[in-house]
Amino acid sequence: MTNIVAVIGGTGRTGRLVVQRLVEQHHVVRAVGRRAGPVRPVAQGATFHRADVRDPATLASVLSDVDAVVYCVEPGTDDKGPDSPRATMHDGLLNVLAAAGRQPRVVLVSQIQVTHRGHPLDLFGGLLSWRLAGEEVLRRSGLPYTVVRPGWLTDETAGAPGVQLRQGDRAAGSLTRANLAEVCVQALRCRTAPGTTFEAFDSPYPSPATWEQTFGALDPDRVAVA
Ligand SMILES: NC(=O)c1ccc[n+]([C@@H]2O[C@H](COP(=O)([O-])OP(=O)(O)OC[C@H]3O[C@@H](n4cnc5c(N)ncnc54)[C@H](OP(=O)(O)O)[C@@H]3O)[C@@H](O)[C@H]2O)c1
Repeated sequence: MTNIVAVIGGTGRTGRLVVQRLVEQHHVVRAVGRRAGPVRPVAQGATFHRADVRDPATLASVLSDVDAVVYCVEPGTDDKGPDSPRATMHDGLLNVLAAAGRQPRVVLVSQIQVTHRGHPLDLFGGLLSWRLAGEEVLRRSGLPYTVVRPGWLTDETAGAPGVQLRQGDRAAGSLTRANLAEVCVQALRCRTAPGTTFEAFDSPYPSPATWEQTFGALDPDRVAVA
């Protein structure tokens, strides 16, 4: 398991849960967000860092020595605004990878339906297209990465004991943020997770006893060599 972990979007609803779990596992955790300070305190044991994925100058000091990155930034939906999907889901990810001085392990939170051409969500600034472009940057990076495509996020705490993983981007459903955080942390931990892209949904059944086997049963990504 890795040591210094930056959670980009670590002040958000999912990011906080990821930060909390990583702190519990004794990692050095940096929660990264744009605001002047956390709206609520981040988990005790983590540090907060103000940085913006759109501005490389803000990223260098916080990312130069990290062993791992979890990227769970929420995009804007206006293609012309500063929060455009291009700026946050593609260019911002490139900025983060460039600022990471080591070769970090990376877990990218994407979303379901990114491969659906003509989907109405893409009318919002090319949201799906730019997310997919960001995924592809990571898949071609040579880094040990995992791409998680969660279903529609909820803050439910009951009724979703486990998680199911799918591939092919054909399924739809929801996922609690707590379950998404668990998937992200397990993807950082397990040696079988790198090199995979998968969708994640709540399951009425408990999560598998061994995440290593669950990730290991997935089809690895086939990356086209340019
Ligand atoms: N909502 C859904 O149903 C759904 C479905 C699938 C996937 N997702 C994705 O799942 C992830 C987690 O979602 P969530 O709802 O838990 O997120 P959230 O609560 O909206 O948190 C988003 C985080 O991103 C940070 N952020 C935004 N722009 C940034 C920038 N330019 N630089 C640095 N940090 C930035 C925010 O902090 P600051 O504002 O302080 O910068 C915040 O910490 C997101 O990527 C989301 O798009 C959501």
